[in-house]
Amino acid sequence: MTDASPTAAKGSSVTLRGVRKVFPNGVVAVEEMDLEVKAGEFVAILGPSGCGKSTLLRIIAGLEKPTGGVAQIHRPDAGRFDVAYVFQDAHLLPWRTVLSNAALPLELQGVERARRREVATEALVKVGLEDALERYPAQLSGGMRMRVSLARAMVTDPTLLLLDEPFAALDEITRQRLDEQLRELWRARGMTVIFVTHSTSEAVFLADRAVVMSKRPGRIVVDRAVELPPERVGELRATAAFARETHLVYEALVQGDA
Ligand SMILES: Nc1ncnc2c1ncn2[C@@H]1O[C@H](COP(=O)(O)OP(=O)(O)O)[C@@H](O)[C@H]1O
Ligand SMILES: [Mg+2]
Repeated sequence: MTDASPTAAKGSSVTLRGVRKVFPNGVVAVEEMDLEVKAGEFVAILGPSGCGKSTLLRIIAGLEKPTGGVAQIHRPDAGRFDVAYVFQDAHLLPWRTVLSNAALPLELQGVERARRREVATEALVKVGLEDALERYPAQLSGGMRMRVSLARAMVTDPTLLLLDEPFAALDEITRQRLDEQLRELWRARGMTVIFVTHSTSEAVFLADRAVVMSKRPGRIVVDRAVELPPERVGELRATAAFARETHLVYEALVQGDA
């Protein structure tokens, strides 16, 4: 299946139908999940700890096989499709510089050295790391490491970007800056983004749609549009509209945890 609109060709759409995951130890992590993510959407998935968010994301990425149902990622019209995954830990190689960490996916694709350095540098500049290209991971703060991880995810120009609580371990200010950078990257690139978080304010700031899961086994309790303007800047967090949207998602989270 492909999107019919020629202008909506940058992101992959995703379909989950009746997705279920039972681990060999009998734990039912995900139960009968139906979800349709459109090309170019930015969706946040929220839910209590242990409700199956990571499992769901791993199933979408193809890292885990569902026990039942189907999970499909569709090619955009342009034909090329590429999935990138950002974990809570930056997972950088300590013996490689920032630049060479960010360039790794291109190296694995066989892209020649000058070109991959050029593309990786550009991605690192976008996340504000232009002064850290030759540093090693041990010389970076947690926030900078996460930025490298984000830049590395972007170098292949993915059609689908999956993020699993990527900024959860960072301090509030760093996290908010990274949220803003991620939102900007998405606005500039137009890929589909699925972002897992347990923070209601982060979900509302970032996403145009919030999907709230119940406690394990995870089901969708609420799936709603975030009614905020497309341009999201820091001051938005101080507005009544932001407080209202955050509260609505919070109520859904409480309902799903009952
Ligand atoms: N490989 C596994 N084997 C058995 N149980 C697992 C495995 N991975 C996750 N689980 C269990 O499945 C449930 C959902 O886990 P997870 O998807 O990591 O939740 P979340 O990301 O929402 O915190 C949890 O109860 C977890 O302990
Ligand atoms: Mg998780």
